[in-house]
Amino acid sequence: MKIYHSIAEMRQFIKTQQGKTLGFVPTMGALHKGHIALVERAKTENDLALCSIFVNPIQFNKTEDLLKYPRTEEADAALLRTVDCDVLFMPSADAFYPKKVEMRMDFGHLETLMEGAFRPGHFSGVGIVLSKFFNILQPKRAYFGQKDLQQCAVVQKLVEELSYDLELVICPTQREGSGLAMSSRNKRLTPNQLQEASRLYKALKQLAEAFLKGRNLDTEKAIVIADLQRNTVFNVEYIEFVDRISLVPASPTHTPTQTAICLAASIGGVRLIDNIIVAEA
Ligand code: PAJ
Repeated sequence: MKIYHSIAEMRQFIKTQQGKTLGFVPTMGALHKGHIALVERAKTENDLALCSIFVNPIQFNKTEDLLKYPRTEEADAALLRTVDCDVLFMPSADAFYPKKVEMRMDFGHLETLMEGAFRPGHFSGVGIVLSKFFNILQPKRAYFGQKDLQQCAVVQKLVEELSYDLELVICPTQREGSGLAMSSRNKRLTPNQLQEASRLYKALKQLAEAFLKGRNLDTEKAIVIADLQRNTVFNVEYIEFVDRISLVPASPTHTPTQTAICLAASIGGVRLIDNIIVAEA
């Protein structure tokens, strides 16, 4: 596996690979099976699989979250080698952003909902980092996890509105045996918190069942939130029934296939997000 740290080296390599298809998997490291599933898919669908590891400072709206973000670079590189990843791009923040980034991106209605509303500036940072990566790497396909459903909608908008010539591939959420969605942030949880965190997936399943049985969803949501917040284990930021593509609130005519249930909650100061499509619950 080739490893590059600077934009110049990376561009140089890309120049030598003209005619080959590149599958790109952007990550912030602390890799787990969710990330690896994306790399494996990129590997099977392209001539080359390239993974980036970059803890992007401009997408963190809380400094503490940035400072505490787990960094396990050697283990990450070892894991990528086990699946024959061809290239790892791992720039330093100074190499990637030699000057303070002054521009901003605005993703319209997506800024006012869920992650957009709770993490101001977050999607601007995601949009800018991905634009830079797409410009440098010129991938044929880019791979994202459904775990970050709203991020998928943001990237879709970015690609459409800026005419990036690439295909987005959205891959299913990988989960622990307990149902907990795999996440780099899980590394910050104690064994007890990890066990508690699996209740988030159960809550999503419970709400999907309520949807399918035609129950009153406001009542069901209130019950689920009260249950999660009992003994202040979780602080629930939101739980929403939304259109899986546009992410706007689901209408009464939404079918189980069209509807996603998204949530964000923190436990012990660690913020976790998850979602399911009702029909797939
Ligand atoms: P990160 O959280 O490291 O996630 C990188 C990619 O892995 C994202 O597309 C995410 O949706 C996917 N992923 C994470 N957990 C997953 C799981 N359990 N199953 C399947 N896929 C999973 O998302 C980011 O980094 C950043 O915002 C980034 C896109 C790299 C821009 O900085």
